[in-house]
Amino acid sequence: MPEIQPGLKGVYLATTESSFIDGEVGKLLYRGYNIHDLAERSTFEETAYLLLYGKLPTARELASFTAELTAHRTLPSALFEVIRAVAQAHPMDALRTALSALAAFDPEAKDTSPEAALRKGVRLTAQAPTIIAAHHRIREEREPIAPRSDLGHAANFLYMLFGEEHSPEDARTLDVDLILHAEHGANASAFTARVIASTQADLHAAITGAIGALKGPAHGGAAEAVMQMVEEIGSPERATDYIRERLARHEKIMGFGHRVYRAEDPRARHLRDRSRRMAQERGQPHWFQMLQIIEDQMKPYQERGIYVNVDFYAGSIYYLLGIPEDLFISVFAMGRVPGWVLQCIEQYRENVLIRPLLEYTGPLDLPYLPIEQRQ
Ligand SMILES: CC(C)(COP(=O)(O)OP(=O)(O)OC[C@H]1O[C@@H](n2cnc3c(N)ncnc32)[C@H](O)[C@@H]1OP(=O)(O)O)[C@@H](O)C(=O)NCCC(=O)NCCS
Repeated sequence: MPEIQPGLKGVYLATTESSFIDGEVGKLLYRGYNIHDLAERSTFEETAYLLLYGKLPTARELASFTAELTAHRTLPSALFEVIRAVAQAHPMDALRTALSALAAFDPEAKDTSPEAALRKGVRLTAQAPTIIAAHHRIREEREPIAPRSDLGHAANFLYMLFGEEHSPEDARTLDVDLILHAEHGANASAFTARVIASTQADLHAAITGAIGALKGPAHGGAAEAVMQMVEEIGSPERATDYIRERLARHEKIMGFGHRVYRAEDPRARHLRDRSRRMAQERGQPHWFQMLQIIEDQMKPYQERGIYVNVDFYAGSIYYLLGIPEDLFISVFAMGRVPGWVLQCIEQYRENVLIRPLLEYTGPLDLPYLPIEQRQ
């Protein structure tokens, strides 16, 4: 029997210059820069540039990158027909379908060179928020709102979603959230993107696959699951019993645990602070109180390396921004596009077809019976 690593736990697939994660101490760097510096001092646009081009931009480089992103926010008009056709689908299904359909309109769709992947990646980074917002408007039987070129990535998304500008502080909160979600090593969706890129399929195929992988509750779906849990709890008084009962039934608590981190997910801190502030400012402190009680109840699990992860507070932030629950994963996805693109570019650059083995444990050499003799 060969040694099997279920879930490929602990297996190194390749080298990367994308992000460094030290799960034991809870450290995360993008391209060498600490996530805390990026969350506190950078913007999503600047972080996306850093990930895609490997360096922090100069003011001129950032201005030209921002202009490029802004220019690509609009969608080909035929894409709205695709979005209308799947108006009733889950937002992640709509995003997956529409982003896949964008390949038909991209002049470089088939070019799998790293250079073309980078250019397409910039376009997809710009287009993803427009798809998500347009689908949401269309399913609510409202007209999609055209992007505005005078707003940043996060602020423009909120504008396209709600038809009005949020405060600069709200836009900054979403901006920070997008920074924190932009890249995270060989997680399931980036791995999926790499597997697809390793067959030399195009970038749209790889990102479409990544969106599919992100949808599951063990990956991108956790923020939504956290908020559903908090809604089920309903009030701070019920939180302790709810968590105890759930743990007694050996059910996982959403927003805790991570395949890589055995310490607190370094991204959680920034969202915790913002969640606390937002809940207070909006006169809804009970949301944050419930989250705090859950975190307290989970303290004994820290001994086993189960700490709060990024999704635990992300859900409350989206909720307080007024973003509907079933859009939470899509917001994660739009933040993650640069990370996926970077992983694909790395894969294209040093490509080896990803093709692990399965140890067969079924029967061998069975006789083939004609159908009338089978029982
Ligand atoms: C993220 C996750 C899939 C990582 O899982 P993993 O590395 O495969 O670890 P496992 O699921 O095998 O869990 C290992 C042990 O910790 C326990 N555990 C892990 N996460 C837990 C949680 N959120 N609540 C309670 N117990 C948990 C498991 O029950 C298991 O216990 P056991 O050894 O007694 O069976 C897992 O922690 C999880 O499902 N968390 C909740 C969903 C979530 O928040 N996902 C977002 C990740 S960013």
